[in-house]
Amino acid sequence: MTAREAVAEGTGALEAGRPGSPFLDATILLAHAMDISRDALLARLPDALDDAVLGRYRALVARRLAGEPVAYITGCREFWGLPFRSDPRALMPRPETEHLVETALSMLPPPRQGKRLRCHDAFAGSGCVGIALASERPDIEMALSDASGPALELCAENAAALLTPDRPGGFPAMLRGDILSAASAPLDAIVANPPYVSSALTREILGAGSPEPADALDGGPDGLAFYGPLAAQAFSLLNPGGFLAVEIGDEQGPAVAAILEAAGFSDARIVRDLAGLDRVVAGVKRA
Ligand SMILES: C[S@@+](CC[C@H](N)C(=O)[O-])C[C@H]1O[C@@H](n2cnc3c(N)ncnc32)[C@H](O)[C@@H]1O
Repeated sequence: MTAREAVAEGTGALEAGRPGSPFLDATILLAHAMDISRDALLARLPDALDDAVLGRYRALVARRLAGEPVAYITGCREFWGLPFRSDPRALMPRPETEHLVETALSMLPPPRQGKRLRCHDAFAGSGCVGIALASERPDIEMALSDASGPALELCAENAAALLTPDRPGGFPAMLRGDILSAASAPLDAIVANPPYVSSALTREILGAGSPEPADALDGGPDGLAFYGPLAAQAFSLLNPGGFLAVEIGDEQGPAVAAILEAAGFSDARIVRDLAGLDRVVAGVKRA
C-alpha cells in the first residue's frame, strides 16, 4: 500500500467515526508512524509503506477513532509555530488562543534599554500563552502559574524545551497557586485563558469521553466564575498603564468586558477571531 492509499483509508475511517478534520488527522498520524514531518509525508505520498509502519499507523487511527485527541496521540501540538508537548496533564493548545498572544504582543510597549517588563500568565496549563510571549519578547520577565501540579510540570517541560535558558528577561518562573495568588506585583501585563465552559457543557464534553482535565474547562454555572476574581486581583497587581488580556467563550464578550470595567479597567475592548467570533477581552489600568 502507498502512503497516499493509507491516507485515503485513514481519512475514510475517520470521516465516518470522528468527523472534524479527517484528512489532517490521517496525515499527522501517518507522518507520526513514519517518524517524519507532515510536509515530508506530503512529498512522499507515492512511496510504498512497509508493514511495520502500516501496522503502527492503523493502531494510531484506531486510538483516534476511540476518542483520543491527535495531540495526545502524537504528544505534540503546534502553537504559535512552536512544537508544544501535549498530554492529558493539561488542555491542548487551541489555535484560537493565538489571538490572546497576538493581542498581548500588540499592547506591550516596545523593548527599551534598561527597562524590564514583568508579565504573568495565569491559568498557564501547557504554558502555550506565556511561552509564546516569552519567545517573541526575550526582554520580558515572565512568570506562569496554575492551580494544577501536573499541568505545571508539563509547562516546565515546554519552557525547558522551547526557551533558551540565557534569555535577557531570565528563565520564566513556574508557580503553583489559585488564580493570581502566586503572582507578585508590580506587573506590566497579565494574560489568562481561564476555564470558561459552563459546568453543564463540561459534564457533556467529559461524558462524551474527552480526556482533557475537567479543571481546565469548568468555569462554573455560566462559565464566567473566574473572570471577576481574576480582574480584581489583576487590577491590584498591575502598574498604572499595565493591561489584562483574557480569552473568552464566543458568547461572553459583553459580560467579560463589563466585569473588567467593574474591576476598574478602562476601555475594555473585545477582539474577534478569524471566524468573526468574540475571543479576547483586554482592558488597561489607567494611571
Ligand atoms: C483553559 S485551560 C488554559 C491552559 C492554557 N493557558 C491554554 O491556553 O491552553 C485553564 C487552566 O486553568 C487551570 N485552573 C483551573 N482552576 C484554576 C484556579 N482556580 N487557579 C489557577 N488555575 C486554575 C487549569 O489547571 C488549566 O490548566
